[in-house]
Amino acid sequence: MSTSNLVALAASVRKALAAPLANAVKDEAGKRARNELLDTLPDLQRALEGPKDTLIRTTWTPLNLVALQTVNRHQIGKHVPANGTISYKELSEKINFPEARLRRILRYSMTQRIFHEPELNHVAHTPVSRLMADDKNMQSWISLITDLFAPVVTHANDAFERWPTSNSPKETAVAAWKGAETTWFEEVAASKGGLSGFREGMEAVGSGEGWSTSALAENYPWGEFGSGTVVDIGGASGHACVPIAEAFPDLKFIVQDLEMGDELEKEHRTLLPEAVQSRISFMSHDFFTEQPVKDADVYFFRCTLHNWSDEFVIKALKALVPALKPGARVVIQDNGLAPPGTIGLTEESNQRQDHGFHVNVLDQLQGARAGGLEGVVRGGGS
Ligand SMILES: C[S@@+](CC[C@H](N)C(=O)[O-])C[C@H]1O[C@@H](n2cnc3c(N)ncnc32)[C@H](O)[C@@H]1O
Repeated sequence: MSTSNLVALAASVRKALAAPLANAVKDEAGKRARNELLDTLPDLQRALEGPKDTLIRTTWTPLNLVALQTVNRHQIGKHVPANGTISYKELSEKINFPEARLRRILRYSMTQRIFHEPELNHVAHTPVSRLMADDKNMQSWISLITDLFAPVVTHANDAFERWPTSNSPKETAVAAWKGAETTWFEEVAASKGGLSGFREGMEAVGSGEGWSTSALAENYPWGEFGSGTVVDIGGASGHACVPIAEAFPDLKFIVQDLEMGDELEKEHRTLLPEAVQSRISFMSHDFFTEQPVKDADVYFFRCTLHNWSDEFVIKALKALVPALKPGARVVIQDNGLAPPGTIGLTEESNQRQDHGFHVNVLDQLQGARAGGLEGVVRGGGS
């Protein structure tokens, strides 16, 4: 590309960015253009950098998580005015964190567009830092990733070497990190945010396109079950049941998850709209053991089975068998993996990040994943 073309490109990109983009992607053409741009931009960056700078930039990305963790752990965004600024000095006093270190970390965050410094030594919000300050579920997601996922994943290759073909959920990056027989969900349960923090995190990231719970209510014939019962297995806080319950006022729901407990159930209950509370109940259940709710109309797994290898998915499905009445439905809503190179790079990266890759780091399996659920759902294999 010639210098003048490059200068013109830089100017037109700047100009486009000056206008808010979010509203431009509501219609199909806008969405297609957005996806195309999302695929093109990283390639543009790589083309401009060259391979060496690309690799070096990639190696520094762990620092992004450190900065994110500091901002999240100290809830820094809550001390920055919604409109206006605060000095580093005042901010450091409010959160009891050394000013010089705070300045270095926040100025690094600002390169990720988390906060900005409109006047020297004064911090203001950006849309990203505002979201971090205001969205409790997003805070839980960031804690889960920075406090738990990050240390675990740095042990993935140790686990691959140590247990190259293991199918055991106790022989993974989580076990290599802890040096003990433990699993991802055991560590989540023992972490500061616990299972309720995990569930909040899931709500933060589980509401993207195709995952909205209102789409779930609209795109399955729930009305066929009249005043029947839906068991939401691994249903966390039961948030997916809410729009279905609102749209189908005769249906009843039982939300099952690990270690529900009175406290957690109370917490989940407070999140339910009053109109549906009487029709949604909670119970502890490990879905690898026999299903205790017999003769329900629907047994529903949403975004749950992808966490497990075929062997464990089969175990979970078999555990339902004694409970199934004739005509009962097992409904699964989960992600698929498209065959490589058949969808945009950004979408493929999201799919692989979500399930094809992180699952075998956290739970079990390297090789066995190749025949995993993704392959079944979308015919894509791994
Ligand atoms: C990715 S989350 C999905 C939560 C919810 N279904 C949704 O769509 O947001 C997976 C859920 O499975 C639960 N889970 C994991 N292992 C389980 C088990 N053995 N028995 C029951 N629930 C389990 C987790 O506690 C978590 O709430």
